[in-house]
Amino acid sequence: MSNLSGKHISYWIDSTPTANFPPLSNNLSVDVAIVGAGIAGITAATLLKRAGKTVAVIESQQISNGVSGHTTAKVTSLHQLIYAELIKNHGEEKARTYAKSNQAALEFIAKTVTEEQIDCDFSRQSSYTFAETPNNLKDIEKEVEAALKLGLPATFVLETSLPFPIAGAVKFDNQAQFHSRKYLLHLIKQIPGDGSYVFEKTRVVKVEENELCQVITNEGVIQAKDVIVTTNIPITDEGLFFAKTYPKRSYIIGARIAERQAPVGMYIGTGEKYYSIRTTPDKDGLLLLIGGGGHQVGTVENTEEKYLDLENYARSRFDVESIDYRWSTQDFVSFDKLPYVGKLTPLSKHTFIATGFSLWGMTQGTLSGMILADKILDIENPAADLYDATRATPFISPQGIKQNLEVGSHWVGDRFKGLNQSLSDVAVGEGKLVTVDGDKVAAYRDETGKIHAVSAVCPHLGCVVAWNSGEKSWDCPCHGSRFSCNGEVLHGPTVKDLKKC
Ligand SMILES: Cc1cc2nc3c(=O)[nH]c(=O)nc-3n(C[C@H](O)[C@H](O)[C@H](O)COP(=O)(O)OP(=O)(O)OC[C@H]3O[C@@H](n4cnc5c(N)ncnc54)[C@H](O)[C@@H]3O)c2cc1C
Ligand code: FES
Repeated sequence: MSNLSGKHISYWIDSTPTANFPPLSNNLSVDVAIVGAGIAGITAATLLKRAGKTVAVIESQQISNGVSGHTTAKVTSLHQLIYAELIKNHGEEKARTYAKSNQAALEFIAKTVTEEQIDCDFSRQSSYTFAETPNNLKDIEKEVEAALKLGLPATFVLETSLPFPIAGAVKFDNQAQFHSRKYLLHLIKQIPGDGSYVFEKTRVVKVEENELCQVITNEGVIQAKDVIVTTNIPITDEGLFFAKTYPKRSYIIGARIAERQAPVGMYIGTGEKYYSIRTTPDKDGLLLLIGGGGHQVGTVENTEEKYLDLENYARSRFDVESIDYRWSTQDFVSFDKLPYVGKLTPLSKHTFIATGFSLWGMTQGTLSGMILADKILDIENPAADLYDATRATPFISPQGIKQNLEVGSHWVGDRFKGLNQSLSDVAVGEGKLVTVDGDKVAAYRDETGKIHAVSAVCPHLGCVVAWNSGEKSWDCPCHGSRFSCNGEVLHGPTVKDLKKC
C-alpha cells in the first residue's frame, strides 16, 4: 500500500517499555476508582495516593498509550492564540485564572520531575506562536498584549532560531518540554501497594453512582466512594460531553536533522494551515517533531496525504536526513475553549470527569488531575469554578453551531445514504462501506486478500463510520469513536466494538 516514510508508531511509545500491569481478576473496593490512565488520570491517582487514599487505576488498553502517548508533549501555558479571545469572551478575571492554572500545572510537572528525579527528558524551553506572513501579525500582537495584561511571561519577537523568516511571534519564557510517557510510567509505578491497584486491559463499561459507586468492567466490579472518569472523552454519556466538544485528529512525524540545524524552543504557527515544531533528544541524537493537518475525526478518508504534507513541509524547511516516525492521535476541543473538569452532572455527588483539553492536555490534563484530587480531598482549588463541568454550555459560537449541524447531518444523512457497493468492489488494502443483504457493512480487504467485515453502525449513538486510510481504522464522524479494521474499540466515547458480520 503506502509509500509513507517512517515507522508507524509514536516515538514516545517506541522508546519506552510497556508497563505490564495485570487485568482485574477479583472484585474489590477502594476509596477512589480512576478510569483511564492518561495524564489526567495518572496525575489524579498520584495526588490521591500521596494524600493517603486507596485508588484503583483501570485502563482498557495500556498505561499512557492513549492520547498522552501520542502527543507532542510541550508543557506550556501558551496555547497557540488564546488569551485575547478568553479576555473577550470570558473577561479578564477568568482569563487570568486560566493563565495561572496552566502555569501552576507546568510548575507542578517541573517540581515533580525535580523532587522525584524523573528521567524524562524534561527541559526548560521558550514557547513561541509565530506568524509567517504579515496577515496574522495583528493576532500575534493582540496575544502579546493580552498575555502581558494577565501577568504571563510574554514578549513580541521578530526573530527565532527557526531556519526560515517569520513576520513576528509571541514568546513565553521558562516553559518546558518532556517525554510524556517516561514521566507517566514513573508516576504509575508508585500507585500499586497499600490497598491501591493498577489494572490494564480492563474495559470499564458502566459507572453507577449509588451509596457506593460501582465501576463495572469486562473483568469484574470495583466499588469506590468516588469515581474519576478520565477517558479523554467520558465514556459515561450522562453529561453530554460528546456534544459539548468536538474530536480533532492531528498528525506528527519525527525527522532526523543535523543538530546544528535544530531550532531551540517549541513552536506553533497560526492561520488556516499551521504546523507545530519541537525537537526531542533520542538515542541517535535529535529528532525533529513536526505536527499538523488537524481535522474533525471521520471527515478525511485519505489521511495518508496528511503525512505526506508534513514530510513535504519538513523537507522544504529543514535539512532532513530521514523521516523516522509517523503517528496520529486526537483530542476533544471544547467550544468555549475551557476544559470541563468536575462533577459528571449537577446531580452527581461522587462521579467526576475531565475532558475538552483542546490539544493542550499536558497542562490542562495535569491541572484537571490537581482539581479533581482537591475536590475529593475537600480542598478548595482556585481554578475549580472556571472549569466546572456542569457550567452552562455555550453552543452560541458560530463554530459550535456549525459543528452541531455537521454532526446532525452525518447522523441523519448517513443513515439514509444509499450504499450500493458489494464486497467484491473492495480492493486490496482498501476500506469501503458496502451493503450485504441490506445491512450496512464496513469492509476492509487486507494485503492477503482476506475481507474483514463489521457493522458500519457506530454503537455509541448510531452514526455510520468512515474509513481512515492512514491508520486503517473506522472512525465515527459524530463524536470521534474509533475502531480497528476488525471493529475493536480504539477510542471512546463508545465502550462497545463494532458488531462482527
Ligand atoms: C496531535 C496532538 C498533539 C498534541 N500535543 C500536545 C502538546 O504538545 N502539549 C499539550 O499540552 N497537549 C498536547 N496535546 C493534547 C494532549 O496530548 C491531550 O490533551 C492529553 O494527552 C489527553 O490526556 P487524557 O488523560 O485526557 O487522555 P488519554 O491519554 O487518552 O488517556 C485516557 C485513557 O483512558 C483509556 N480508556 C478509554 N476508554 C476506557 C474505558 N472504557 N475503560 C478504561 N479505560 C479507558 C484510554 O485507553 C486512555 O489510555 C496534543 C494532542 C494531539 C491530538
Ligand atoms: S461516536 Fe457517537 S455515534 Fe459514533
